[in-house]
Amino acid sequence: MQTEHKTPASLETLVTLCKRRGFIFQSSEIYNGLNGFWDFGPLGTELKNNLRDAWWQDMVRNPPLGPDGEMLDIVGLDSAIIQNPKVWAASGHLGGFNDPMADCRESKSRYRADHLMVYVPESGEGTAFAFLEGEPAVAEKRIKKNAKSDPSAYKVVAFTDLDPALIPSVWGPDASEPGTLTEPRQFNLMFKTFIGALAGEGEENTAYLRPETAQGIFINYKNVVDTMRVKLPFGIAQVGKSFRNEVTPRNFIFRSREFEQMELEWFCHPDDATKWYNFWVEARLQWWASLGVDMRNLRRRDHDEDELAHYSTACADVEYQYGFTAPGFGELEGIAHRGDFDLTQHQEASGTKMEYLVQETNEKVIPHVIEPSSGLTRGVLVLLNEAYTEEFVPKGNTEGGVQLAKPGAQVPEGYEKRVVLKFAPRLAPIKVAIFPLLKNREELVGKAKDLYAELRKTWPCFYDQTGAIGRRYRRQDEIGTPFCVTVDFDSLEDNTVTVRDRDSMKQERIPASELKAWLHSKGI
Ligand code: GAP
Repeated sequence: MQTEHKTPASLETLVTLCKRRGFIFQSSEIYNGLNGFWDFGPLGTELKNNLRDAWWQDMVRNPPLGPDGEMLDIVGLDSAIIQNPKVWAASGHLGGFNDPMADCRESKSRYRADHLMVYVPESGEGTAFAFLEGEPAVAEKRIKKNAKSDPSAYKVVAFTDLDPALIPSVWGPDASEPGTLTEPRQFNLMFKTFIGALAGEGEENTAYLRPETAQGIFINYKNVVDTMRVKLPFGIAQVGKSFRNEVTPRNFIFRSREFEQMELEWFCHPDDATKWYNFWVEARLQWWASLGVDMRNLRRRDHDEDELAHYSTACADVEYQYGFTAPGFGELEGIAHRGDFDLTQHQEASGTKMEYLVQETNEKVIPHVIEPSSGLTRGVLVLLNEAYTEEFVPKGNTEGGVQLAKPGAQVPEGYEKRVVLKFAPRLAPIKVAIFPLLKNREELVGKAKDLYAELRKTWPCFYDQTGAIGRRYRRQDEIGTPFCVTVDFDSLEDNTVTVRDRDSMKQERIPASELKAWLHSKGI
């Protein structure tokens, strides 16, 4: 049965919940934070690790079957964050990893110029009004108030496409008057560092924090081929931190300056590359759906020719409908057909042969590469967005009659609101919460603690004895714990416990001796 399509949560709602319940904090918060950096709290760390582990399990240890039903070979890697700078020269990042940026001389704001849009008068005369993509309200207000006109008398043009002669008449989003924006200029996104305790800050000591995990894979391709007896086609996967000095980090952990990626480089015979490209685009879309992401919130977007990097023959994004993009979609993962670009570049720059000998035919080829590359931290945002649900629950009723709450809707008479994170059990940060019915009855507390001690050997668990049971349930709902186990007076008599399901709120009595097997059967 098709469930009702939820309205995505606003970013503000998610940020507030994440801070309040220990998922994600602003980095260096006690020093007023640092733009573009975030710290994962206790629950966010568990959630992120679970997503990482699900990816590793489903991509490395037990990848999907190939297009002809064959088992795929994928091995893992963990390369250094700092590589020889020649890596970044060969990969093209030193020369070409740039974003166009524009500064506001008045507010000192820095914008990604390709994220700035401008209302330009159809007449070509007068002030133009810039706004950040998706946030036209400020510019529209100014058109009405300052230009005494209407947005319909304007056309929308990307700032990067604007005739430079018009820039002095553009009113920047944060400025108090027109003419404060600079022309766009290129800005390299790699963070620099300097190697060696006594090293000066000269070019010869300069190194870079990696802007993607992928290059660590390409430079180890030969090591893996020589040591792991892998045969074409095969994959090398890596999960880890990447760093980009983004001009405008925004939308919480969607675009940050320090983030994590989950990348697979799939090496295949050039003749088979298109087949594998199509396979991986579909497989990746299905994988996100397998985690419980609503297919209505996912879509495939094929890049237009003019979006493709010069070495790439095809690229598709898995896009998601985030709260801040709705009703539009934003990138979650990219699947790129990179051809032999990277291996050829490193072969030429390093002098190391990257050819692969196809033994059956004695043919030497430089493999082509299909790259499914997704953000782990961006994936966490998708999971939070997808899980966040507000419901109206009949008061005093533990089962049935639940309504999905529309944002801003009044709580109906006789109902109360509950916020619940409906994570797939596999991804939930805490799997089981254990409660004694009353905290002042030693027998109940003792038995509940014994159960807690037993269950925590296997799963992340939470013990809570304070407050009414209903409130304890709500606290666990809000962090997405799939099961709550209560030890009550019957438990003392017959050694059974009550297990309450987060989503249905149904309660079941289960013998304590069977609890572990029962929980295992629920896929946590
Ligand atoms: N090796 C290819 C590559 O890095 P990309 O499209 O630049 O491709 C892949 O990045 C994924 O990494 C994106 O789809 C996104 O999920 C994530 N990502 C990229 N930049 C990010 C940022 N600044 N903050 C968070 N995630 C980011």
